[in-house]
Amino acid sequence: MEGFAVRGGERIQGEMTIGAAKNAVLPIMAASVLADSPSLIAGCPRIADVESMRGILGCLGCPSEWNESGLTVSGDHLARGEMPEQLSKRVRSSIFLLGPILGRLRRAEVVYPGGCEIGLRPIDLHLSGLRRMGVVIEEREGVLRCDGGNMHAADVHLDYPSVGATENVMMAAVLTPGRTTISNAAREPEIGDLQSYINAMGGHVRGAGSPLIEIEGVRRLHGASYTPMFDRIAAGTYLCAAAITGGEILLSGVQPCHMTAVMEKLREMGCAVTEEENRLSLRAPRRLKAFDTLQTQPHPGFPTDMQSPMLALASVAEGCGVVVENVFENRFALAGELSRMGANIRVSGRAAVIQGVDGLHGARVQARDLRGGAALVLAGLAARGETLISGVELIDRGYERMEDALCALGAHVRRVPRIE
Ligand code: UD1
Repeated sequence: MEGFAVRGGERIQGEMTIGAAKNAVLPIMAASVLADSPSLIAGCPRIADVESMRGILGCLGCPSEWNESGLTVSGDHLARGEMPEQLSKRVRSSIFLLGPILGRLRRAEVVYPGGCEIGLRPIDLHLSGLRRMGVVIEEREGVLRCDGGNMHAADVHLDYPSVGATENVMMAAVLTPGRTTISNAAREPEIGDLQSYINAMGGHVRGAGSPLIEIEGVRRLHGASYTPMFDRIAAGTYLCAAAITGGEILLSGVQPCHMTAVMEKLREMGCAVTEEENRLSLRAPRRLKAFDTLQTQPHPGFPTDMQSPMLALASVAEGCGVVVENVFENRFALAGELSRMGANIRVSGRAAVIQGVDGLHGARVQARDLRGGAALVLAGLAARGETLISGVELIDRGYERMEDALCALGAHVRRVPRIE
């Protein structure tokens, strides 16, 4: 398996353009099966999760093709409703296909999905939302057989604002006659992006971004050409790369209004963060200051996906900080790896106490999940000597050639064939 060799000590300096968000593109790819003609996803990132989703769509009869402007997905070719077991186990986003496949074919079959090892990640909210719409779901030996023969519009209340469950119910309702509502819906900006894509295809969805979403069922949708929103987590990660190296960065292609919680924490740590219309710049102090407490929450709270990068920053900040992870129960595997690099972190349940150290040193470490892997790269940038990171395939799930992006900003990150 491939790894990264990171030589620390260089300041990150320069400009970069942030591309389309993984978390916007994956549900959009799923929604493409609702249409009766192909869609173009402009600027689609070439990341491993997109390739896995292409694989699943391919097995369902929907080919997709890369071209100069992005990815063309022939969702209209949808021929079968049974999702391939091995691929679905690998990619959690395969669960997003349940709603749109039911919308189109009124039946679907899926195995319990996989994804990052960051917690239990149940799908009970997805299933109860679909059941509320009249879908009959039977589970046998880990396979869920869904019969949507009697699907109808419904008022769906989510006990928790799950991003995936909100998107799934939204997609199931688009081709279902009548008015479906989702209350206590997740408010992540990627849900607004999915709404825009569905409406570009001829759908009638409104309210995304608020806790109440309304979907008026339509008879058919056509394919659309759509540019998904920027990747706010990738943007945050690169801001952190500049912050941890005492550097300076200018990001374009971003909407700072979607990054308020992250910008505020970086300011609390002593960074100068400036927002313009589609740009964001950060200038880091010589030494970061510890934040007081960081609590992850559903949007607009602090995003759980940025918790790992912030843990890396807190490791070298001056003072002591506390992180409380409220969204996923198992997101501190990174702490052990950072400790190998000299960090001083104590984890107890959902909380971590980080006493900042004067510096980290290079070590052999392992990426355990996507964002934790990216955080190890950040720690490596700030460490003395060389850090060897294995498990880079997890980082490739969500970052498009992260090593090239960082090298263009002055870092020394090499992809190496194998780390023993
Ligand atoms: C999405 C994002 C992921 C991000 C997360 C939270 C994508 C592809 N992934 O994941 O990067 O970290 O939102 O912002 O968009 N839960 C249940 N039952 C369910 C569904 C979820 O208990 O049926 C729990 C989960 O275990 C977790 C919490 O709810 O503890 C949040 O999950 P959810 O919002 O659904 O996240 P995802 O859609 O999986």
